Amino acid sequence: MNFRVIFWVLSSLVGHCFFDYAHGKVAVGVIKSNLGWEFVERFCFYPNIGKLHFTFSYPVQSTSPKILVYPDALWPTVYKNSSKNCQQKVATIDITTNQVFYLSPAEAWTNCRLVKPAESASLIDTGGTIRCSAVLSFLSSRERWWYMVVSDCGQPIDLSYDLLFLNGDGIMTKHFSADEFYILEVDIAFLFTFATMLIMSLVFANKLKELNYLHITYNLFIYSLLFKCLHLFVICIGLGKFSSDGLDVYGAKVVGHVMEAISFLIFILLLILFGKGLTITRGKISMTSMIKITVFMILYVCIYVAFFIWEAVVFDRALVLYRYESYPGYCLLVIQVTAWLWFTYATFFTVKNYPEKKYFYYPFYLLYTLWFLAGPICVLIANLALDLWVREKVANGIFHTINFFGYAFLLFLTRPSKANKNFPYHIKATQIAAMQEDSNSDNNNNNDNDNDNNNKSNINDLGASYKSENNNSWGFPTNRQKLNLEFYDIFKAADNNEKVAEKF
Ligand SMILES: *[C@@H]1O[C@H](CO)[C@@H](O)[C@H](O)[C@H]1NC(C)=O
Repeated sequence: MNFRVIFWVLSSLVGHCFFDYAHGKVAVGVIKSNLGWEFVERFCFYPNIGKLHFTFSYPVQSTSPKILVYPDALWPTVYKNSSKNCQQKVATIDITTNQVFYLSPAEAWTNCRLVKPAESASLIDTGGTIRCSAVLSFLSSRERWWYMVVSDCGQPIDLSYDLLFLNGDGIMTKHFSADEFYILEVDIAFLFTFATMLIMSLVFANKLKELNYLHITYNLFIYSLLFKCLHLFVICIGLGKFSSDGLDVYGAKVVGHVMEAISFLIFILLLILFGKGLTITRGKISMTSMIKITVFMILYVCIYVAFFIWEAVVFDRALVLYRYESYPGYCLLVIQVTAWLWFTYATFFTVKNYPEKKYFYYPFYLLYTLWFLAGPICVLIANLALDLWVREKVANGIFHTINFFGYAFLLFLTRPSKANKNFPYHIKATQIAAMQEDSNSDNNNNNDNDNDNNNKSNINDLGASYKSENNNSWGFPTNRQKLNLEFYDIFKAADNNEKVAEKF
């Protein structure tokens, strides 16, 4: 194996002032432990340009703790391996490879020196503090994760650390772990792409409004896209700040991910509503469906919340885990596949009842089946097949691309243009409003409305109710039936579909 760390001293007095001229991932903290072997931090260094500026301090004691730097190939054999004790874990690293160093004044290059108590007033100790500051260079043949551990077998550890990881000095890359290279650039590019689509969707919405086809479903689409843009905007701000000072903006990450979840949930809701034909073949969905959808969405939100809590609390910092590598993460994938099954079921019956809408539903179903399944499949590939030192950036690019196609295709299908053969909307927005008003007043006056909701002759199933009325020997149409017929009439007329006109 030709991976090897070569250490050498670059500066003798680093102290805190290095923050003035150098930037990178900053990790500051204190480790107190009785286990004798504790994980400190991990970082993925790019080949041959990686540097670590460190400052360690600990109260003067009889033994000196040592720092071990494990390469990614060794890490799984020691971390959480209960069949190895502290000495064995330390012995895993060949001492001649320079991956072990003592924080002792006897070791020349680590620059350890005794700091008088008066100089370190914040540390409560009497014997003074030993402080070590130096720079390490990391050389390896490929991008490699390094795991830093402090160890002092059999002794309690009380160590404070101040680390600055650097990957070269490129303005956009030096601060990032090698597996996160180019994520900021890719995110900025997608932010502009999604923002452009948002503007296009607003222009289309305006046109649809003129045509009286601006429906709740289109508004959901716009909201989803808006939250997607906000997600990328917040993430880019966070990463941009990180790239300038190396400090994680935790708040931006959380807010960004919440925005993403909202955008995603709205989109799933939209697809299910479209599958059910809302605003395409019907003006309203039944109470039962409404309840089912509400329960499903609440369940989805709960799993997302569990996912976020898990991510914040349970995630193991010492492992390179992909976001979805957790039980709530897997639940999210399962529920996404469930949503797809539901989507399939709903779309199947909508197309069956309204074959004249197939120009919209065939491409719609095909593409969004791919969209639904691409997410979980990519997560599985990312979890199982991608190397840890490229996974984050590759997965990031793939997911934005999937989302891009998801939005772009719907934007394309629903574009208000005469040439658009797939255009789904033919019920006017005002018709739906009138119908809802009517059914609301029915709800107040008429108890059998509930029954209607459960069978096919539903006011909201425009076509179906017409058909069932045909079969019935109905006399003078009720108000509702008249309304249905009227809608159906207009709906078909607008459709310009001769085949259906024959049915009349
Ligand atoms: C844990 O340590 C034992 C003993 O050294 C070793 O045989 C085993 O392979 C290690 N486990 C893993 C997962 O590497």
